Amino acid sequence: MSRIFISYRRQDSEGYVGRLYDHLIQHFDRNDVFIDVDNIPPGSDFVKQLEDTVAACEVFIAVIGPQWLTIADERGERRLDQEHDFVRIEVASALMQNKLVIPVLVGQARMPRVYDLPEAIAPLARRNAIELSHQRFSYDVQKLVDSIRGAMSSGQFLKTPADPTTRRQKEAALKQLRVELVGATESPLYSYRTENGHFPVLGEGNPDAAILFTGESPGLTEAQQGRPFIGPSGAVFDELLSSIGLRRTDVFVTNLLLDNPPEKRDPLPAEIAFYEPFVDRIIDIIEPVVLVTLGRFAMQYLLKKLDLPEKTATISKIHGKLIKARLPYGEIHVVPLYHPAMVLYNPSQKDTLRMDFQKLKLFV
Ligand code: URA
Repeated sequence: MSRIFISYRRQDSEGYVGRLYDHLIQHFDRNDVFIDVDNIPPGSDFVKQLEDTVAACEVFIAVIGPQWLTIADERGERRLDQEHDFVRIEVASALMQNKLVIPVLVGQARMPRVYDLPEAIAPLARRNAIELSHQRFSYDVQKLVDSIRGAMSSGQFLKTPADPTTRRQKEAALKQLRVELVGATESPLYSYRTENGHFPVLGEGNPDAAILFTGESPGLTEAQQGRPFIGPSGAVFDELLSSIGLRRTDVFVTNLLLDNPPEKRDPLPAEIAFYEPFVDRIIDIIEPVVLVTLGRFAMQYLLKKLDLPEKTATISKIHGKLIKARLPYGEIHVVPLYHPAMVLYNPSQKDTLRMDFQKLKLFV
């Protein structure tokens, strides 16, 4: 059952609702957003189904367009005055069950007043509304998303912290992995590492983190110090992290390649294959609830590995999406993000990354 119910009149606000839905599924799981009474199975009791669906939701969004209040049937009788009007049934049911009801005004509609409404839904008039305008759609939707998040018990996304003994075991397992990485003489990048006096970069952060970030490969600065994301893209990354109130010590940060490849080049398939078991073990040790990929290489690697339907999608299509997946230790989400380095050559993309980072708040 869906956690967010969108109630609307097709003739009144269909275009806005389609756009709203597309935005909401960027922030929430698609199955968590109920949009259409068309989804009700043929033959089932329409009213009961609607009431059950409303009962299961945590947030009820009543989209109100310019004709929402006045639309009439072919006999000229106002729909809202009819007991079987589905919008009236939905709203009445949500109010009766004390759901969080958020009126969302579109097409410059005004909030109905108490005396405009039939008694069954009159309390709707006292609910605080959010207005969606065409010009500021994304900004307005973000306000709505924040309200929904505030109301939804996000517990389902939260990680139960490990007990102190397990945490110590995780620290020890990461230490052991680092030792193996240091001695990985068969790595295709081993001789380049040693000839240049570089260090391998296993990653660092909270060994029991809820969020695991995977970038592409360590740059020169990272290889000189053996730490991930400490060069220019690391500065961007830190800023994005702090925009959602997180520090490095709250999350774990690693890369697809655990050594710096020459000449800033893209990772080669053989290199990815070599480090794959290391990255898998990092995931197994930390058991994050969300795997955040930074850039297209890490994204493609993970989506293919998990054999997810999005595995052939481009990053421009799926950045910021919450993609459900399963690992042996439980259900997780994959969130593909653009690489922070993108901001260094295209500063206007910082806002996109910032917005996408906001979605990670669900997990902390
Ligand atoms: N870019 C990456 O992908 N990883 C780092 O650690 C640094 C830059």
